[in-house]
Amino acid sequence: MMPIKVPPIKCQGIKTKLVPFILSHVQWTEQEHSKWIEPFLGSGVVAFNLAPKRALLTDTNQHIINFYRNIQNGKINRDLVCGFLQENGDRLLKDGASYYYEVRDRFNQFASPLDFLFLNRSCFNGVMRFNSKGGFNVPFCRKPQRFAQSYITKIANQVDWAAKQMAGKDWEFRVANWHDTLLEAQPHHFVYLDPPYIGRHTGYYNAWNQAEAEELALRTQQLPCGFAVSMWLENQHRKNSHIQECWSDLEMRVCQHFYHVGSREELRGAMSEALLIKPGFSASLEQTLQGALEVSVMPLHPS
Ligand SMILES: C[S@@+](CC[C@H](N)C(=O)[O-])C[C@H]1O[C@@H](n2cnc3c(N)ncnc32)[C@H](O)[C@@H]1O
Repeated sequence: MMPIKVPPIKCQGIKTKLVPFILSHVQWTEQEHSKWIEPFLGSGVVAFNLAPKRALLTDTNQHIINFYRNIQNGKINRDLVCGFLQENGDRLLKDGASYYYEVRDRFNQFASPLDFLFLNRSCFNGVMRFNSKGGFNVPFCRKPQRFAQSYITKIANQVDWAAKQMAGKDWEFRVANWHDTLLEAQPHHFVYLDPPYIGRHTGYYNAWNQAEAEELALRTQQLPCGFAVSMWLENQHRKNSHIQECWSDLEMRVCQHFYHVGSREELRGAMSEALLIKPGFSASLEQTLQGALEVSVMPLHPS
C-alpha cells in the first residue's frame, strides 16, 4: 500500500491512522461496474487513499461536499489556496483573534469553501462543530502566527493531492443523508461506513442517537453488497455495547488507536477500534497480519 496521505480538511474521528488497517482488512476487487460508497465521508481520508475509479461520496455536511466539489471542478486549486491563505494568514497575524472571528462571521453568512478551509485549519483543536442553526462555532486556536509559509505549503499540497486522487475518476460528491445513499447500493458495490459516535453529540451535522444507530445497523445488514463499518469498541472507561447488540453477525477485526482530536479529555486517549465486515468480504489474516502486527481478531461469540 502507498504511504497514507492526509486530505486538506480535518474532522472529528478522522481515520488517517486507521486507513491501512481498514483497507487491508477489506476484500474488494474493483470491477467494471463496481463503486465505492461512503455515506459518512467526513475528511474523505479513506476514499482519497483508496482512490477507486468510481465512488459515491456523501455527507450531510454541505460544507465538506462543497469544498471537494470545488476541487473537483477546478475552482479550488493549489495556487488559489496558497494565495488565499497567505493573504488571510497575514491578516490573522496582524489582527489576531478578531480576524479569525471576522472570517467565521463571513463564512456563516456566505459559506465560502476557502473560508471553510481557513477556519478548519486555524480553529481550536481542529474540531468541526456547528450550532443548532448550522453556524460554525469553534473558537480560535489562539495562534495568530498559524499560517506560516510551511503550513500554507502543506495545506496547498494536500489540496493538490486531493485533486490528483480524483482527477479523471468517476466520483460523485453529494450532500445526502445515509438513508438515501444506501438506497443506491448495488450487488457489485462496496459500502464503507463510519458513522458518528452514539452519545457524543457534537452539533448540527452530527446529531446521532441510539435509534438512528440501530436503524443504520438494520439497513446496512440488508445491503445487497459487501460492506465494512468502523466503530469504537472500547476505551479505558467503557465498552461499546451497541456492537454486540446490533452488529454481532459480522466478522470483527480490532486495532488499538490513539485519538488526539477532541474537545474533551474523555474523547482523547487510547481506544480500540473495530472494523465490522460482512462475511465473505474480509481479507485473509495471512494477508493482513503481515503488514499490521497490532491488529487482533476477536470473536463476537466466544466459543
Ligand atoms: C466519524 S465522521 C466520518 C469520518 C471519516 N471517515 C474520516 O476519516 O474523516 C462522521 C461523518 O458523518 C456525517 N454525518 C452525520 N450524520 C449523518 C447522516 N445522518 N447522514 C450522513 N452523514 C452524516 C458527519 O457530518 C461526519 O462528517
